[in-house]
Amino acid sequence: MITPGELIQLVSPKGKRYLRVFDPEEELHTHDGKLKLKDICELTYGQCIASHLGRNYKVLKPSLYDLLKSIERKTQIIYPKEIGYILLKLGIGPGSRVIEAGCGSGALTMALAWFVGDQGKVYSFERRPEFKTLCVKNLTRVGLLHRVELQEKDIEEGFAVEGADAVFIDVRTPWDYLDQVLCAVKNGHPFGFLLPTMNQVARLLAALEAKPCTDTEVLEILLRRYKPVPERLRPEDRMVAHTGFLIFSRAQR
Ligand SMILES: C[S@@+](CC[C@H](N)C(=O)[O-])C[C@H]1O[C@@H](n2cnc3c(N)ncnc32)[C@H](O)[C@@H]1O
Repeated sequence: MITPGELIQLVSPKGKRYLRVFDPEEELHTHDGKLKLKDICELTYGQCIASHLGRNYKVLKPSLYDLLKSIERKTQIIYPKEIGYILLKLGIGPGSRVIEAGCGSGALTMALAWFVGDQGKVYSFERRPEFKTLCVKNLTRVGLLHRVELQEKDIEEGFAVEGADAVFIDVRTPWDYLDQVLCAVKNGHPFGFLLPTMNQVARLLAALEAKPCTDTEVLEILLRRYKPVPERLRPEDRMVAHTGFLIFSRAQR
């Protein structure tokens, strides 16, 4: 049974997706007619409800991927293909205490909050109030805000958090904040960065060389989707050629 308050995803016959916190009182008005969400109470995931015009909408359980795809964005966000690797490299799991900056629209914040669980904490920093507000809105919508301590602050001032298990920095000039990162992260633990250009990566690497750190790695992740047609299995015609470069290192004081 699907209970009120759960996150649900409705998918139209043409594949349009609607993410909702399930409220049986709600009526959803679509191009296919009106859907009475109270009909969902009788269903399990994978079943369909019909609009008043008789069009079927699938009711699916949203994954973290679906949540990330649906966030309202006013900044560049980190995409799922990078987020997956970031989580593994930073060792994020239940109970982790992780620092990130800037939060921007909150895509990475959401993924970190999802994985740290109720025992962990995400310490997130953002210097622009409008983006902090947007991040709060995106986290609230999916019920993850309570796992995040969000501060409106320039990370130039430092994090005022010690002994973090990991740090991730997504700002334009990360080489300016390496002392703050190294002060906050536990010795031997990982920290990472995302940068859009190679020039920035080279500048960051030069700055890292002068700091007490080890195990530095630079990479990018390319994702090629395929048309899921068994008789003509082939890649999609277009792909996103570039999102960003990832850089990881560890504190070695
Ligand atoms: C590209 S966005 C981050 C996107 C975010 N990682 C996501 O996945 O949605 C970069 C953010 O860093 C913030 N920022 C830049 N420099 C900063 C600083 N020194 N202190 C705090 N926030 C900063 C910007 O205001 C911007 O919102």
